[in-house]
Amino acid sequence: MQRIQSMTRILSGIQPTGRFHWGNYFGAIRQYIDLQNGRDTAFYFIANLHALTTIRDKKILKENTLNAALDLLALGLDPDRATLFMQSDVPEVSELCWILMTTAPMGLLERCHAYKDKKAKGLTADAGLFAYPVLMAADILLYDSDLVPVGEDQIQHIEVARDIAGAFNHSFGEVFVMPKPYVVKDTAKVPGLDGGKMSKSYNNSVEVFEDLKTQKKKIMGIKTDSRPMEEPKDPAGDHLFELYSLFASAEQIKELETTYRKGGFGYGSVKSGLAESAEKYFGEARAKREELAAKPDIVKDVLSFGASTARKKASAVLKRVKAACGVG
Ligand code: ADP
Ligand code: TRP
Repeated sequence: MQRIQSMTRILSGIQPTGRFHWGNYFGAIRQYIDLQNGRDTAFYFIANLHALTTIRDKKILKENTLNAALDLLALGLDPDRATLFMQSDVPEVSELCWILMTTAPMGLLERCHAYKDKKAKGLTADAGLFAYPVLMAADILLYDSDLVPVGEDQIQHIEVARDIAGAFNHSFGEVFVMPKPYVVKDTAKVPGLDGGKMSKSYNNSVEVFEDLKTQKKKIMGIKTDSRPMEEPKDPAGDHLFELYSLFASAEQIKELETTYRKGGFGYGSVKSGLAESAEKYFGEARAKREELAAKPDIVKDVLSFGASTARKKASAVLKRVKAACGVG
């Protein structure tokens, strides 16, 4: 892990658009947990305002939001070492979003992938999807964030936040702190069951807290090539090998690498090994989740305490921004 200075502010958000999968965990959530360095310096939120661009059912959105909080806490997010809150509980973010919108270049937003992909498919996008990266910039800049742990697909959005901050600073003086993405190379793009990027939109993901029977079935169904068992195989670029490596020790990875290169093994045994280690790896978190799910009030208290801590910082920064540009 990179060395992080103690006053470095870490911030990240995650959308409550479904249950978290291995890609979300290894690409982002594990780093949230590793980087927790204090209530005032580690801010994590559930991006329910962003989720409104895709979920239009209030019951589902509320359920997903509570599940996201439960999952994060069960996975090790510690309210004594980090602040966890709901994006919509800090209304300052919407105000900052508007202010940033006034200096955000259209061309920059037109190049952002969520909007561009939707347009390329001939679908009509709404203004919310177009402005999505500006709200994300507001999320980041509102807390003077230094480091933003995310998977590879979010780097573009952090670059946009930097561009927007730069444009604003250029017009109004040094108001914003320049954020940087924090990406762990080995897990920046976790593959899915089909070898493409794991994503809830591609129907190729394994959820962290998936029922174990379903999880095993999915793992045993991972697509592999049809080369004969005896043939030596190259582990590089093999998605089953990559998935196995997420849960394995350095020794186990080395062992499997040798087996691949020698040949004479069946993919079935690797898949069973993967299912077993995944079950073990998340065993403790599963038990903690069950415990927490029985006490929803604890989760609500964490979120409401988190919101008040986050708002304190947010209102101070917003005040600074408004003073700099002459509103308020
Ligand atoms: P999804 O693609 O399933 O909708 P999100 O866009 O909600 O996932 O991603 C939430 C967080 O998880 C982001 O920080 C994102 O970069 C990370 N992430 C998502 N999928 C992966 C993946 N396959 N590998 C690594 N990180 C990922
Ligand atoms: N767009 C991010 C995603 O889909 C979620 C997000 C919203 C976020 N605001 C953020 C991530 C601020 C990091 C920082 O994963």
